[in-house]
Amino acid sequence: MSGSVCVTGGAGFIGSHIAEAYLAAGWSVTCLDDLSRGKREQVPAGARFVEADIRSREAHELLADGGFDVLNHQAAQIDVRVSVEDPATDASINLVGFANLLAGAAKGRVSRVVFASSGGVVYGDPAVIPTPEPTATLPISPYGVSKLASEHYLRVLGTLGGFEGVALRYANVYGPRQDPKSEAGVVSIFVSRVLAGQGLTIFGDGEQTRDYVYVGDVARASVLASGLASVQRGDRLDVPAFNIATGTETTVNGLARHVMDALGREVPVEHAAARPGELVRSCLDISKADRELGWRPEVPFAEGLAALARWFEGMAR
Ligand SMILES: NC(=O)c1ccc[n+]([C@@H]2O[C@H](COP(=O)([O-])OP(=O)(O)OC[C@H]3O[C@@H](n4cnc5c(N)ncnc54)[C@H](O)[C@@H]3O)[C@@H](O)[C@H]2O)c1
Repeated sequence: MSGSVCVTGGAGFIGSHIAEAYLAAGWSVTCLDDLSRGKREQVPAGARFVEADIRSREAHELLADGGFDVLNHQAAQIDVRVSVEDPATDASINLVGFANLLAGAAKGRVSRVVFASSGGVVYGDPAVIPTPEPTATLPISPYGVSKLASEHYLRVLGTLGGFEGVALRYANVYGPRQDPKSEAGVVSIFVSRVLAGQGLTIFGDGEQTRDYVYVGDVARASVLASGLASVQRGDRLDVPAFNIATGTETTVNGLARHVMDALGREVPVEHAAARPGELVRSCLDISKADRELGWRPEVPFAEGLAALARWFEGMAR
């Protein structure tokens, strides 16, 4: 299936890969981004670009008048610490902005909305690892609340507005174009530092775990979710939600080892005080995406790390 899609955040890390994946699958792509973090040059050739804030009238009208089949929503305030310091700004972008787009999508008869949720935050500190979608949700940050509340908006405004909504709950996404200065980018930070011969700092004992999924695999999930014949609806929020992850738990100590092995370089590793509020374990069960979306990760960790390293080296030239 192909059609016309609006990718918000299409100048950002994940959104730009998603835009590329849609183009490769024959879709007509419009990227909407205010360039607050994204870069114009990351919007792929072949995609139309609209510079606007998702909270603006212009963005609302783009959805209402754009003739899109699908809205793929990636634009967000993504920093957990910003959400703690300034929850109103987080809610303004992540909730008011999303509601503004969804109201436009309903007017524009968009048939499906694919939303970038986060499996790293909606479950809070989950009791079950790997965590399946029906696990109780109890976020522990305002950013987590905004992701979970967005899934509620998607469900309710979809029912009222006549579109289907799919939530993709990403694990820790890594790959080319991830800003090493961003809080989410521990893989980018480690790869860029090892390439520069600089030591790595691990907070706490390094035995905390994460589930690292390659951005190209994440982008493919968006295209598959857009092409699903129909989206299940049910009496629970997790019915139209899919974890997009690897199901593999990696410690931060293990990540440091993987990066040095993949790049063939050794650097010193030091430990610093643990950061308060950090999750101890995070790893998502991906059997539902495999079963219902026909999606599973394909890029091995070493290959994804090598692709990220090549991107950094290209940037340095
Ligand atoms: N990176 C991860 O590991 C991860 C994990 C779970 C969920 N997510 C979600 O995936 C999505 C993409 O994240 P990313 O890592 O690519 O981040 P990113 O910052 O690279 O991309 C977000 C994009 O949104 C744009 N944007 C921000 N505010 C905007 C606004 N008000 N109006 C218009 N555009 C705006 C930014 O300029 C940027 O290009 C986000 O919704 C994020 O919450 C990311």
